[in-house]
Amino acid sequence: MKIAISGKGGVGKTLLAALLSKTFVESGYSVIAIDADPDGNLAATLGFPHPEKIIPISEMSALIEERTGAPPGKAGGYFKLNPRVDDLPENYSQEYSGIKLMVMGRLKRGGGGCYCPENALLQALVTHLLLGRDEVVILDMEAGIEHLGRATAKAVDKLIIVTEPGRRSVDTVYRVDKLAKDIGLQNIGVVGNKIRDPKDKEFLISSLAGFEFLGFIPYDQAILDADLASRSLVNASQRINNEVRNIYQALLAVSGTTA
Ligand SMILES: Nc1ncnc2c1ncn2[C@@H]1O[C@H](COP(=O)(O)OP(=O)(O)OP(=O)(O)O)[C@@H](O)[C@H]1O
Ligand SMILES: [Mg+2]
Repeated sequence: MKIAISGKGGVGKTLLAALLSKTFVESGYSVIAIDADPDGNLAATLGFPHPEKIIPISEMSALIEERTGAPPGKAGGYFKLNPRVDDLPENYSQEYSGIKLMVMGRLKRGGGGCYCPENALLQALVTHLLLGRDEVVILDMEAGIEHLGRATAKAVDKLIIVTEPGRRSVDTVYRVDKLAKDIGLQNIGVVGNKIRDPKDKEFLISSLAGFEFLGFIPYDQAILDADLASRSLVNASQRINNEVRNIYQALLAVSGTTA
């Protein structure tokens, strides 16, 4: 199962990515969680001991040069567009609580997409993770879907767009939905997060008519308390964890697998 998570900044993408990773692992699956947000904090959210020490793949200059034949930042020169990456999940991931984590780092941007060695390596890696692995892969992305393209879209079992009860994050759902459809990705589900009362849920259902809802996660102060205390968020709220288990069940139903 390959799951990608997008949505407006701050809506709870990383919390959902972390909790889904935990739920799949607890259910006996092998999981690779991918932090594909350049300002990501998936490692901290999962409770990794020294998240600040993890070096993103995009900053591993020696690796980038070894695999592509050119140092990072060298646009326009000769380098391999299809570098070898199949060993990277084993050799360049971190593991904690049974969850493998890879931190991608920042894609270089340029007019019409930047052809530079680090982007080639990251793109090859995402393609390999989505098309060439048996594990459950959970991709925590930004407010867009920059890491996905036509070739990888068909491998995504579900693009989950997270939204809060609010106009701006709902607008982002429509924007991401359009970007996804443009690359042929049709398997889209919405998760409503930070739900405080029934009105919040009704607002989302009426604002997003026609979307499939995978679940609604309650707002819980316990998450913020854990955040302020720099504790892992994955064990902070039983109410939230229960709801994420329902979302997990909904995802299994989609893929036709049984729990
Ligand atoms: N259901 C919830 N109840 C209470 N607080 C929450 C809930 N979901 C998320 N939060 C808090 O909201 C903030 C944003 O959550 P998170 O980092 O998961 O969002 P994000 O979409 O990944 O953000 P970013 O775009 O910055 O990566 C965090 O401080 C988190 O602790
Ligand atoms: Mg995040």
